[in-house]
Amino acid sequence: MCGIVGAVSKSNIVPMLIDGLKRLEYRGYDSAGVAIVRDNEIERKVNVGRVADLEADIDFDRFKASTGIAHTRWATHGGVTRDNAHPHISQNNVAVVHNGIIENHHELREELMSKGYSFYSQTDTEVIVNKVDDFINHGDDLLAAVQKTIKLLKGAYALGVICLSEPGRMIGARSRSPLLVGVKPGEAYLGSDMSALIAVTNKFMVLEDGDIVDINQGQVTIYNNQDQLVERDVKTSSLSANAIELGDYHHYMQKEIFEPGQAIADTLEGRISANSVLEQSFGHDAAEIFDRVEAVQIIACGTSFYSGLVARNWFEKFGVRCDVEIATEFSSRAHVVPANALVLTISQSGETIDTLTALDKAKQQGYRYSLTICNAAESSLVRASDLVFMTHAGPEIGVASTKAFTTQLAALLLLAIVLGRRKLLDQTTEAELVNELRSLPGKVEQALSQDKEIQKLATRFVDKNHALFLGRGLHFPIALEGALKLKEISYIHAEAYPAGELKHGPLALVDSQMPVIAVAPNNDLLEKIKSNIQEVRARGGQLIVFADQESGMDADAGIEVIKVAPVDDTISPIIYVIPLQLLAYHVAVIKGTDIDKPRNLAKSVTVE
Ligand code: F6R
Repeated sequence: MCGIVGAVSKSNIVPMLIDGLKRLEYRGYDSAGVAIVRDNEIERKVNVGRVADLEADIDFDRFKASTGIAHTRWATHGGVTRDNAHPHISQNNVAVVHNGIIENHHELREELMSKGYSFYSQTDTEVIVNKVDDFINHGDDLLAAVQKTIKLLKGAYALGVICLSEPGRMIGARSRSPLLVGVKPGEAYLGSDMSALIAVTNKFMVLEDGDIVDINQGQVTIYNNQDQLVERDVKTSSLSANAIELGDYHHYMQKEIFEPGQAIADTLEGRISANSVLEQSFGHDAAEIFDRVEAVQIIACGTSFYSGLVARNWFEKFGVRCDVEIATEFSSRAHVVPANALVLTISQSGETIDTLTALDKAKQQGYRYSLTICNAAESSLVRASDLVFMTHAGPEIGVASTKAFTTQLAALLLLAIVLGRRKLLDQTTEAELVNELRSLPGKVEQALSQDKEIQKLATRFVDKNHALFLGRGLHFPIALEGALKLKEISYIHAEAYPAGELKHGPLALVDSQMPVIAVAPNNDLLEKIKSNIQEVRARGGQLIVFADQESGMDADAGIEVIKVAPVDDTISPIIYVIPLQLLAYHVAVIKGTDIDKPRNLAKSVTVE
């Protein structure tokens, strides 16, 4: 949610800032802007729309500087207008980029107005830039002015700040929103994540909550929230600039739907032996903690929440008590905390503020241990958790999550196995499951080979405004995920129901205009879902069924069957989600939507 990039160098940083913004654009794409310290002014260029629109407005021969900040926005306070676009500027003296929300901006605005400051935007950010300017006017240097300002802020922020009177200096600060410092001899950068900086450096430091960084002529100094000097480790990012290139694909989402074979193989690598799961892959203290765990509470949002819903089936089948809740709902109520409970967060980005807040709440309420399954090393969730299991999906750029989901499921099955072996899971079953997990990359390729068939099917959705997804048991969350993908990128209203619930209400929606997508693998619920499919057919619903080749289901009037290669029941959700991702993708291609950046959404949701 909003992307920040900043640079202090000896050479011109404008091309780097624009490149960084393009790489961060998945975080927010309502408007974009850049501010540089140049001659006797801070010059600012902003535009609504995409980074490409901003770039088209810049005269690169003239607009040059060695210090600058840039931003791509996902609107929170104030509409999508040029005035609301960042960087924000005060008295041609200070410029600020901000990610997060300042809750007490009204009070600060009134106080600044009483001092004669006027405001041109509706953003909460403008109070920050004016407050920094106010302190500078009272004699503070840039660092002291930012230190004093952030002590007044309530809410969440990552900031990059520059000022006219100190060219070659940039201050960064963070509280509950991510910010990294990229380093290179004589140069330093700020970035919301490493994708922004990887083209210029792979060395970086992670700012901790409350940290302020002073980048002065390439020298980097960090202070904690007590204004004490602190050291933060310089790390090496494993991200490669190419990993975020599109290659031959048309969209990142398409690329990412096609990547899970490798991503799952990477996620399993070093985590399984011939017959068992290696539990030390969950961390040093994992065995000791897992021996005590009596219950698991999963907290997550969106697609990550749905992977938790699938996993609950595995945990409970193996004898491990498990609850799953949407993070914001978890935070909204009191809990009876089971003894020795493990709170498990699942997140692609590791920066979803709702999940972070729920984790805080869980700790306060007495959950004893925490584990995160996450795709972003060095993220806030990773740092806030006792145990960490990294999915190795690689960068996911498309806003709609795809390969992160499949790798989360693989990771969750590994966890269910290591906890389950302390309860009902025997060694033989564990060995069988490990074998099935190992076979996953090949099965993923089989599922992907149906791409063309699914592309044809997608034409049926072009004139549809609604769709119903049905699943049962392990596959109800897959139906939920299929519906979420379709609505996110094609803007077709899609709802998922447990198939057995159809007759309790949603059947009233079914007519010849309603596509009904059923996930019907060959398991002990097959006969039941077949009955539900008949209920739909009897009412003229247009059925598309994803079924096992051996399920005995064939195409007929009003029913299209996509046959999925046989797969073991436990791992089947990881395979069945792939055709649903492909379906959503192809429908969106036909509808001509902005697939990688669907309207109103952003990849990393760092505001509450
Ligand atoms: C859906 C999607 C979102 C995310 C959700 C959680 O395609 O991308 O629903 O799954 O915002 O994000 P993470 O996993 O980063 O915590």
